[in-house]
Amino acid sequence: MSRQSVRRFSELATVWTGKVAQRPRLIVAALAVSMMATMALPVSGAVVDEKVIDDLLARMTVTEKLGQLQQLGGNVATGGLLDGQEGLIRRGQVGSFLNVRGAKSSNEVQKLALESSPSKIPLLFGFDVIHGYRTIFPVPLGMASSWDPKAVERASSIAAREASAAGVRWVFSPMVDIARDPRWGRIVEGAGEDPYLGAKLATAQVQGYQGADFGAPGRVAACVKHWVAYGAAEGGRDYNHAEVSNRTLREVYFPPFRAALDAGVGTFMTALNDLNGIPATVNPFTLGQVLRREWRFDGVVLSDYQAVEQLIEHGVAANGADAARMALEAGLDVEMESTLFRVHGERLLRDRKVSRARLDEAVRRVLQLKARLGLFENPYVDEAVEQSVILSKENRDAAREVAGRSLVLLRNEGNVLPLGSNVRSIAVIGPMADDPQIPLGPWFADGRKEDTVSLLAGIRAKAAGRPGAPKVGYAKGCEAEGGTKDGFEEAVRLARESDVVILAVGETADRSGEATSLTSLDLPGHQLDLIKAVHATGKPTVVVLINGRPLTIGWVAEHVPAILEAWFPGTEAGHAIADALFGDINPGGKLPVTFPRSVGQIPLYYNHDNTGRPPSDFKYTSKYMDIPNGPLFPFGFGLSYTQFKLKNLKLSKREIPPEGRLIASVEVENVGKRAGDEVVQLYIRDEVASASRPVKALRGFERVTLAPGESKTVRFAIGPEDLGFYTCDPRFIVHDMQFVVEPGRFKVIVGTSSKDGLVATFDVTGL
Ligand code: BGC
Repeated sequence: MSRQSVRRFSELATVWTGKVAQRPRLIVAALAVSMMATMALPVSGAVVDEKVIDDLLARMTVTEKLGQLQQLGGNVATGGLLDGQEGLIRRGQVGSFLNVRGAKSSNEVQKLALESSPSKIPLLFGFDVIHGYRTIFPVPLGMASSWDPKAVERASSIAAREASAAGVRWVFSPMVDIARDPRWGRIVEGAGEDPYLGAKLATAQVQGYQGADFGAPGRVAACVKHWVAYGAAEGGRDYNHAEVSNRTLREVYFPPFRAALDAGVGTFMTALNDLNGIPATVNPFTLGQVLRREWRFDGVVLSDYQAVEQLIEHGVAANGADAARMALEAGLDVEMESTLFRVHGERLLRDRKVSRARLDEAVRRVLQLKARLGLFENPYVDEAVEQSVILSKENRDAAREVAGRSLVLLRNEGNVLPLGSNVRSIAVIGPMADDPQIPLGPWFADGRKEDTVSLLAGIRAKAAGRPGAPKVGYAKGCEAEGGTKDGFEEAVRLARESDVVILAVGETADRSGEATSLTSLDLPGHQLDLIKAVHATGKPTVVVLINGRPLTIGWVAEHVPAILEAWFPGTEAGHAIADALFGDINPGGKLPVTFPRSVGQIPLYYNHDNTGRPPSDFKYTSKYMDIPNGPLFPFGFGLSYTQFKLKNLKLSKREIPPEGRLIASVEVENVGKRAGDEVVQLYIRDEVASASRPVKALRGFERVTLAPGESKTVRFAIGPEDLGFYTCDPRFIVHDMQFVVEPGRFKVIVGTSSKDGLVATFDVTGL
């Protein structure tokens, strides 16, 4: 804790004492913890010689300076330039590119800048490397299901190695938007609904991409996005208005961004939405007050695609010049794809609508980023290195392993899985089974379907290596969307002839990701009818879900004995799923997001506040009349081929002061017959506070691997950062909320999902 924050803590405590007298049960202690962010945090990367940057700035014309703030999209298909961009480079009117990639292509473009532009400043190549560059890992929502930050860090570091070998030194990832609404297609790009899990995985990704120094070989600068509350789009409609209270912003939407910042993230990208009425691109609260002043982020902030120009459509800027002025004034540094800084910048400076100091500040940040990346010394990449790094065996093996760790077993009645040695024939059915493109998900960077192992290919390869080599038959059954039921007959015939059915259904990749909002989360097309037809044969059936968001699969959950959630698993999809189906690995992932029963329940998330009338049999309580309130599958849920038991939850202390700490320990035992993984989850509930608190909030987790009969004690440290919340003096509706730990009783719940668990309590004492 810094000196300054200690002082603020005691001042605050005095202020709040007044409240104590009025509300004796709510003795309030304010505590400044790291989340308050009073210290400045340098981004990682090599130390920059500011003198070099000063000299450069002194030499550059205004045109060149504005050029550094311009990011343009190159040719996404070829990795090269689009018409007209060569001239811009020669004139120094572009500072960075999106989509330019590949060692050869990026070197050629770089050469142009270094040999022909006025100040010979290297270009920076950025790309949407979301879950891998060429070797594709599971989509982020899938990787989040691993509840394994080490695995996520490894995937990100491999993505960084491949991307940097291809000349890409800036990745537009991690996407850390909390998403409580599966109608929003971009839920696939993030870590789901929980800020704590989201923060841990944001840290893992930033560390994986950047390491300790993003200027080091094989590292890239990360860009955390989309700042902020993009996932709160009303109605789940992409790009839509978000209305979020200050407290919810600080407690739910900010934490993963803050975690990325604490991990040294190089850059931020603003969101496309407006937040409480003001577009995120120019929002003075989120961009000015929080990011720049409270958090003291001094790195590059980049707009999202054409977002500066879209200020006009938002209705906050009258014209292009106005939009450029607003964005620069708000503290935005780089404009992606629209060209308003470049077109209107000189005039705005002449008319003193934008200061030279602001322009220089933005340019300095871009030059610092380039310098930290080492681009001034090493602007080119080695084509031979690219060849050896991209899609190496080592990278593919890692992708298979991470995909395996991301699988979530949702049902396994009668132990249909893993497939036993008695299985002599397997029917592989469904529109997702033989498609090598879909497993890459909606945003696959340079991933290619020709590198990808489909589920059918994975099952065939695995079956061929089993004793007795079980026969594998395939029938598509129906299209993923639209089409007819003509293929049902063949699928049903194949099911009848086989010992077991693996039925691969879900969403095409195009139905997931950006601009794919939906009002129905049912399996599209004829897929549910296909499942029903196959199920009617009475053959043991396993549904493998390939999808990017929670689906409403009530009928399947009730009738089909085994369900494996695979998400979009990436390049090694088929191998990883087959590993699990045949029991070579034991699924141990957990859902990072709630599965609703019906779209009508949305938003449905586990860490909601309590109401004054929680649901009960009594009519006048908070519930639906037509379906239960609860989810189909809760957050944190996932089964295993073995069983685990939790026991002996102990707290090291029964009482702590507001700034105190304690340890919760619990024993977890594998009481089944196979080795397997369990994710032990710790949730906290603040029983009485000056504001309604979530019914439970994740504050710790650990994925453990145990042999049959083995047990382990898992320990969680609990401190003020886990107990406090954001609040402010109710007399002022202001932005400067404080993080406080209020004395009173706290409940600790340790379980294997958010549904239930062992319970213990402790008290935080007054001042
Ligand atoms: C997306 C960003 C992405 C950018 C560049 C935008 O449409 O919202 O996430 O980084 O495009 O491709």
